[in-house]
Amino acid sequence: MEIIIQSDSRRASELAARIVAQTVIEKPHAVLGLATGNTPRQLYRNLVRMHRESGLDFSGVTSFNLDEYVGLPPAHPSSFHSYMWAHLFSGINMAKERINIPDGMTTDIPAACRKYEQAVRSAGGVDIQILGIGTNGHIGFNEPTSSLSSRTRIKTLTDESRLEAAGAFGSEDAVPKHVITMGLGTIMDSRMCLLLAFGRKKAAAVALAAEGPVTAMVPASILQMHPRAILVLDEDAASSLKMAHYYRWVSEHKPDWQKY
Ligand code: F6R
Repeated sequence: MEIIIQSDSRRASELAARIVAQTVIEKPHAVLGLATGNTPRQLYRNLVRMHRESGLDFSGVTSFNLDEYVGLPPAHPSSFHSYMWAHLFSGINMAKERINIPDGMTTDIPAACRKYEQAVRSAGGVDIQILGIGTNGHIGFNEPTSSLSSRTRIKTLTDESRLEAAGAFGSEDAVPKHVITMGLGTIMDSRMCLLLAFGRKKAAAVALAAEGPVTAMVPASILQMHPRAILVLDEDAASSLKMAHYYRWVSEHKPDWQKY
């Protein structure tokens, strides 16, 4: 794991945007794995700005979102479809037919999940997977005790996750109970994982994920087994890391060719 600590979420999101942009420039037909939530908003804002100001070209890019609520039509204001159009897709030049988000309205969930996995494979696999982390250590909506080799499937949200989503729905009761989410095995197949975490409330989950044992109780800890997982944190999210001093030292002494 590479752990990069930045002074604040603005700098962290700028760095993450440079990593994504580098991938898209080097590989115009790159496949991006995308997350929703509060964390990647600034990253997406940066990508929109790079597209507008420097012509960062997304016309050949394909994307796969991590998850979607079951039973929510794409046009619902709290769906991840709506989120993605509001925060990214409406501001860049991705081709609509190359945007993939799980269909929360499908009548055959297992078949839709198999098809999603197949679509990721047919696209050549995910080059860079953007991730946030839940306070309980989830990535995607792989809640604690998810199989470490799980594939895209239906999951039942924990109370904790439903509470965290309550703001977007007006109340916890209104939050759907189920989601379709890429699995931990699906995420692990990506060529690079880029996890962002900001704020003190993420500090415990980040420390367990990066420095604790690999365990299904902290699904993000599986990233320790990934050959190219980068964690980009602000100071608060990094505040419980035992080896923070070392991570800073590594960043400061990177050879030029390794810098982002
Ligand atoms: C969303 C997702 C979730 C979030 C996580 C953090 O697509 O997959 O794992 O990344 O719940 O959410 P925020 O960023 O809102 O704290």
